[in-house]
Amino acid sequence: MEREKAEKRVKELQEMLHQYNYEYHVLDKPSVSDEEYDSLLRELLTLETEFPEFQTSDSPSQRVGGTILEMFNKVEHRTPMLSLGNAFDEADLRDFDRRVRQAVGDSFTYVCELKIDGLAVSLRYEDGLFVLGATRGDGTTGEDITMNLKTIRSVPLRLKDSVTIEVRGEAFMPKKSFEALNEAKVEREEEPFANPRNAAAGSLRQLDPKIAASRNLDVYVYSLADAGETGIDAHSEALDYLDRVGFKTNNERKKCSTIEEVIEYVESWNTKRPELAYDIDGIVIKVDETDHQEQLGFTAKSPRWAIAYKFPAEEVATRLLDIELNIGRTGVITPTAILEPVRVAGTTVQRASLHNEDLIREKDIKLGDYVIVKKAGDIIPEVVNVLVEKRTGEEQDFHMPTHCPECESELVRIEGEVALRCINPKCPAQIREGLIHFVSRNAMNIDGLGEKVIAQLFHENLIEDVADLYKLTKEQLLELERMGEKSADNLISAIDKTKSNSMERLLFGLGIRLVGAKAAKTLAQEFDHMDRLASLTKEELTAVHEIGDKMADSIVTYFEQPEAMELLQELKNAGVNMAYKGPKKVSADDVDSYFAGKTIVLTGKLEEMSRNDAKAAIEQLGGKVTGSVSKNTHLVIAGEEAGSKLAKAEELGIEVWNEARMLEEIQS
Ligand code: IVH
Repeated sequence: MEREKAEKRVKELQEMLHQYNYEYHVLDKPSVSDEEYDSLLRELLTLETEFPEFQTSDSPSQRVGGTILEMFNKVEHRTPMLSLGNAFDEADLRDFDRRVRQAVGDSFTYVCELKIDGLAVSLRYEDGLFVLGATRGDGTTGEDITMNLKTIRSVPLRLKDSVTIEVRGEAFMPKKSFEALNEAKVEREEEPFANPRNAAAGSLRQLDPKIAASRNLDVYVYSLADAGETGIDAHSEALDYLDRVGFKTNNERKKCSTIEEVIEYVESWNTKRPELAYDIDGIVIKVDETDHQEQLGFTAKSPRWAIAYKFPAEEVATRLLDIELNIGRTGVITPTAILEPVRVAGTTVQRASLHNEDLIREKDIKLGDYVIVKKAGDIIPEVVNVLVEKRTGEEQDFHMPTHCPECESELVRIEGEVALRCINPKCPAQIREGLIHFVSRNAMNIDGLGEKVIAQLFHENLIEDVADLYKLTKEQLLELERMGEKSADNLISAIDKTKSNSMERLLFGLGIRLVGAKAAKTLAQEFDHMDRLASLTKEELTAVHEIGDKMADSIVTYFEQPEAMELLQELKNAGVNMAYKGPKKVSADDVDSYFAGKTIVLTGKLEEMSRNDAKAAIEQLGGKVTGSVSKNTHLVIAGEEAGSKLAKAEELGIEVWNEARMLEEIQS
């Protein structure tokens, strides 16, 4: 196509796609089919590839997710992103109403809105174009997630008015999309997200915008950060205005003139909330008129003209079908309630830990009981209590076994502990759990080796200990159910790759009692090699600040076992690395480098080194690398096309180096 025609067609396609997108994702009234939309988008993508000069930053093509970022830049909010005070019951709401009336009298209006359960985002538009999107962060400084927010179809890339404004809203994942995402994750044996809020936050905190693009996120805009010259003098007008210029606002909002009406609204949504397509965790109540808002003002953290009513944690009744016993890798037996599946706060719950026998006695839990279930901290399912009045007499007492359900050795209760333990070191359940721990994400992190495959390998006697993993052959793997040539090859190479892991992964993977991932890292940094660690005395270990008596005892005891040393030898024979490979722990006084003890900001494009490598090198030399320039910054290293950070450094009189100067220092 010739240039001129192409330019015209690109513009036309962009306009059409903007409109169709708006109709579908904001108005919920599509006027063309998905196929038609996709075919127009493909046409646009092709033309923009051929004529990149016509691609604009607000083109609908930007929604597919562009280049992968190296890190998120910090963004200082022009107006702070505050939080709200909370109300937990009717009395709190009436107190709020009293305070408002005292300050502004009786003639005012409330606007009640759903409190969407997601994460707060700030969107900046300049002359109608979306230029910056950020997370809340600490309220003053957030992170630049523009690329990810552009992939959300309800976020307008261009407004219907060419205004310069900043708006605030809540990014979230609808319940259905969350469920589909988690199902796919479970299918791939990945850890599912705990709730839609975490899923939304997790998707927006990815450096690769293609991930956010694939996640079906949405945004409801709930405020205009600064009305500026718009002449708007009430929150409800601001929302209507935001609607008009192309944003998606939530339509369930309601104006109320008395606190009674507010309470009615709150109560009705507490009942209706399961029907919504997205999660809400409360109701936000705002004084509508801007002049009244100004009169009320702010406390240090939040406006006095608004409050968030938080719904009580959802509690649901269901039946306790059974109590299952799980044996952990340390031999602790944990009873788990098997429940009739029930929806609680956004996900289906069918299991809840009962922790130990004492708790079962305390709550008087019997098999077959109706129980009340909630999610503690909104995440972990918990049995709150038993509905004694629903008992029929058929319920049965539960007793913990005296012997291990897996290896039948006698269980013991260690003094001072409530837990029952199987202390047979050869207990198959413990070994299996130990293997699962060894391959897990924070340990050796063997890709594609989930619980199911481990259980099969163990069951087929193909592995007895972690060293056996490194002896597996493709032929052996092919014997497993549902294991094809390609998966077997992938698995072998994934296992092989982990031989070169740095020491802390292996150390954590060994599952030494009390040695968590963080302690493993400290120990590896401090002692460099597994052989060295294995030879230390308790005193040498406790000399490290973070290592206490109990952990030191546990480490010494572990390496005193001949079996442990044999296992290490086997791992070495298999070629597994025993040395620490990460950056050495440096204290600022140990290094003779200009960077030592300094706070340094990297900005612009580096030519010779990736930004991550430069950061690691500076940290190795005792420097601290941060994302934003402030008066506490000692040095700014500016690559090509450095922008606002360089300008700020110059304004504050901070020393600036180019990349070559940085390399000189790193290599000296
Ligand atoms: S207004 C000055 N309205 O709830 C603060 N917040 O602490 C203005 N939220 O993190 C917030 N839905 O992200 C407001 N309709 C709504 C909201 C809402 C959800 C979130 C917000 C903030 C928290 C309040």
